[in-house]
Amino acid sequence: MKKDLLLPLFASIALIFAVGWNYLSIPGVPDWTEEELRLIASLSLDSLPPLPLDPSNLVADDPAAAEFGHRLFFDTRLSSNAQVACATCHKPELMFTDGLALAVGVGIGPMHTPSLVGLAYSPWFYWDGRKDSQWAQALAPLEAKHEHATDRVQLLHLISSDAIYRDMYENVFGPLSLPAMLPESGTPDGDAQQQTSWNALDTETQDEISQFFANLGKAIAAYERKILPGSTRFDDYAAQVVAGSNEDTALNNSEKAGLKLFIGKGQCVTCHNGPMFTNHEFHNTGVLAVAGRMPSMGRYDGVRISREDSFNCLGEFSDASAAQCTELRFARDANDLVGALKTPTLRNISETAPYMHGGQMTDLAQVVNHYNDAPSSMLSHNEAKPLGLRTVERIQLEDFLLTLSAPLATEQRWLAAPDY
Ligand code: HEC
Ligand code: HEC
Repeated sequence: MKKDLLLPLFASIALIFAVGWNYLSIPGVPDWTEEELRLIASLSLDSLPPLPLDPSNLVADDPAAAEFGHRLFFDTRLSSNAQVACATCHKPELMFTDGLALAVGVGIGPMHTPSLVGLAYSPWFYWDGRKDSQWAQALAPLEAKHEHATDRVQLLHLISSDAIYRDMYENVFGPLSLPAMLPESGTPDGDAQQQTSWNALDTETQDEISQFFANLGKAIAAYERKILPGSTRFDDYAAQVVAGSNEDTALNNSEKAGLKLFIGKGQCVTCHNGPMFTNHEFHNTGVLAVAGRMPSMGRYDGVRISREDSFNCLGEFSDASAAQCTELRFARDANDLVGALKTPTLRNISETAPYMHGGQMTDLAQVVNHYNDAPSSMLSHNEAKPLGLRTVERIQLEDFLLTLSAPLATEQRWLAAPDY
């Protein structure tokens, strides 16, 4: 080759490399600022505090209650067609989700099944936060027509007539007595027939049955407190960089760049913060309603429903004193909560598609595009603003989200039906 061609050839190769390198690797990523390092540390599982106590549930940390709850969680006899258990929709192998857009129990429901991992850290439950404890939440699906479609009186018959269940119940909550002349079914929240038989009971009997029902919820909640997130590649990386290690190999360059976007230009961390990647608050992010359905009023309705719930922290079936019910007593009421939904955890997000409260988005690329565009909300206004991310940045953000998955930090035996 002629000598005078070599220089331009080298120059072009160098240029191609420089451009390519700039595009593929990400300039300056590992040089985290103090502020960024603080944010990275705050997202790490190392920052996760011990499980918060639940003063409304005296048996929340009672091992015998967790055993009882474990069995209830997987038992399809707790449904009208003997085919639906909590675990039908909250499948351990899918991080306690179901892989469906809308949940299917005895019927099809209006919402998407969220993950239950680390949920004991949350002060509110459901997408709209209409329940203020995990035990009170657990009662609702049992009586909901599209979920288990049973009721508290039918459950009393079941538990008291099954020798194992009766033992487990009495071991935790004391003697179980069956009121005389008990109808076959009944609940104040059911259809006309269930309400009629409920209303025929005297108040004392009604309270006894509702206390029994609340106790089932408390046992299930004790079990759910075992469902905890495991340490991910992101957590390994956080440990490396926070320790100032040169060995920051747990994430590749694209994932590091995604992390930088997550805590920076992408503004994800304004809502998905702390070690569970959620601020446990409610936000309107402009997600469209499920086709053919009314948009959810979200937390605007949820907060009111939680105050009226007879199983809330201030109610007669709660074990807490009024002073301990700070979340409920000081819950915020405001118009900006119209269409606001609970910020979900992003831990194990690669395992829990589809996404959003109605399962409206099938993959993470769609989610990232949604935040990038920040469309107007159907109700009230979208809090998030358009991000102007380039294609490569959107891919980096997605790559980072995929680093947030790991097997649960939960003993294997809790992740399947009990085998006794
Ligand atoms: C038919 C499917 C189905 C069944 C059965 C079911 N769930 Fe759910 N679960 C859902 C859906 C859907 C939601 C979200 C509903 C909403 O927010 O309105 C949910 C929400 C929850 C939440 C709140 C999650 C959060 O992020 O706040 C908990 C906890 C929960 N379920 C536990 C249970 C328990 C315990 C049982 C059994 C007693 C159960 N579920 C039965 C589908 C189901
Ligand atoms: C203003 C608060 C807020 C910001 C900012 C925000 N999110 Fe969210 N995120 C939410 C809420 C609320 C939901 C649930 C919305 C719904 O279901 O309609 C959600 C849902 C998600 C989901 C689906 C989770 C699931 O289990 O269905 C993912 C993934 C997600 N966000 C990622 C991100 C990323 C990535 C960013 C940054 C580009 C981001 N979020 C910024 C509040 C926020």
